[in-house]
This record gives sequence, structure tokens and C-alpha cells, in this order.
Amino acid sequence: MAISASLPFFFFLTFSLYCSTSIFPSSVSASSDLNSSQLANQICKNTPNFSFCQAAIFSDPRASAADRYVLSYIAFGQAYRNATSTKNYIGFSLKSIKAYANPTILSGMQKCRGFYEDAIRALSEVQNNLDSESFYGLDKAAIDVESSIRACEASFSGQSPMSQENQNLMQLLKICYAVSQLYEYS
Ligand SMILES: *[C@@H]1O[C@H](CO)[C@@H](O)[C@H](O)[C@H]1NC(C)=O
Ligand SMILES: *[C@@H]1O[C@H](CO)[C@@H](O)[C@H](O)[C@H]1NC(C)=O
Ligand SMILES: *[C@@H]1O[C@H](CO)[C@@H](O)[C@H](O)[C@H]1NC(C)=O
Repeated sequence: MAISASLPFFFFLTFSLYCSTSIFPSSVSASSDLNSSQLANQICKNTPNFSFCQAAIFSDPRASAADRYVLSYIAFGQAYRNATSTKNYIGFSLKSIKAYANPTILSGMQKCRGFYEDAIRALSEVQNNLDSESFYGLDKAAIDVESSIRACEASFSGQSPMSQENQNLMQLLKICYAVSQLYEYS
């Protein structure tokens, strides 16, 4: 009883704490950590959706003090994990095949599984390259993976049940691409 009676207060407290820490994020970081979060913000300015990018990048506690190397790990790591979780979701959906009585959706899902496997292979290659401090081709990897995901979306002839997931991953890949632009390729 006591617990349930205090629940609304708990939510109120949590919510107020949330507001007080999130309303002025830029002024807080401006006084403490302007320098290092600048790089992450600069990356996000080069993506189509600044707030999506910020939410994604700063969900990693390393982001505010990250150099381009760490930011590459963060961005490509997020894309990799996201692609993996969506691929698992596709596998799971294909097992409950009756859910896809619609043949367009069934064959779309099957194609998507392949496209996501391609994406994951390319993204894990990037991780290996980063481990050996090789930065060549990060931009191309981001573009190639995005086109795999675009191909997944197109596999459903306009009835994609995967739009949300594909859209999410494509936004993460825009961040990867923006990070790759911090390197100069000759
Ligand atoms: C950021 O920090 C580095 C070294 O810590 C310094 O060289 C650079 O000038 C700083 N940049 C800004 C914009 O404060
Ligand atoms: C940008 O991302 C936010 C959340 O991350 C989303 O709510 C918003 O709709 C997006 N804006 C556009 C134009 O896609
Ligand atoms: C990552 O993938 C999952 C499953 O596809 C999705 O629901 C989630 O919103 C994605 N996360 C981000 C940060 O895009």
C-alpha cells in the first residue's frame, strides 16, 4: 500500500529530475565540456536529423569526450548492434511464417534477411579495420550498407512492415557517414 501510494510521487520526482537535467544541456556542457562535445555536435550537424543523431551518439557516455577514433567506434558500433537486433527480429518473424500469409511480405522478409546479413558483414569488417587502426573506406562502407537497407525496404513493393527499423538504421548510417568525413582520404 505504502509503495503504491508513493508511486505517483516517485514518477513526479523522476520526471522533475529528468527535466532539470535535460532542459539546459547545452549551457551545462558549454561551461564544463564545450571542447570535446563539439566534435560530436559537429558530426550531428552534418546529418539530416540533428536530434536523432545527438540522442544516438550521446547515449554512449564516451561521446562527450570522444575523438574521431572513439566516435567511429560509437557510430559504427551502434549501426552494427542495431542491424544485428533487426536481423534477429527478421529471423524470429520468419519462423512464425503464418504471420506472413501475404506472399509479398514473406518474400520481402526473406530478401531482407540476406540484405541484413550483407550489412552486418560489412559493419563487422569496419570494426576489424578500426581495431587495426585502418580508416580507409569508412565512407564507402556507410554508403554500401545504407544501400543494402534501402534494398530491404524496396523488397516489399511499398508494403514494408520494416519501415521503422530500416529508417532507424539508415539514420544511424548517416551518422557513420558523417563520422567518416572526419578522415581525409587521398
Ligand atoms: C580543445 O582541446 C584541445 C586540447 O585539449 C585544444 O588543443 C583545442 O584548442 C581545444 N579546442 C577548443 C575549440 O577549445
Ligand atoms: C528526428 O528524430 C526525432 C527523434 O529522434 C524524431 O522524433 C523526428 O521525427 C525526426 N525528424 C525528422 C524530420 O525525421
Ligand atoms: C535499433 O533496432 C531496434 C530493432 O530494430 C529498433 O527498435 C531501435 O529503435 C533501434 N535503435 C536505434 C537507436 O535506432
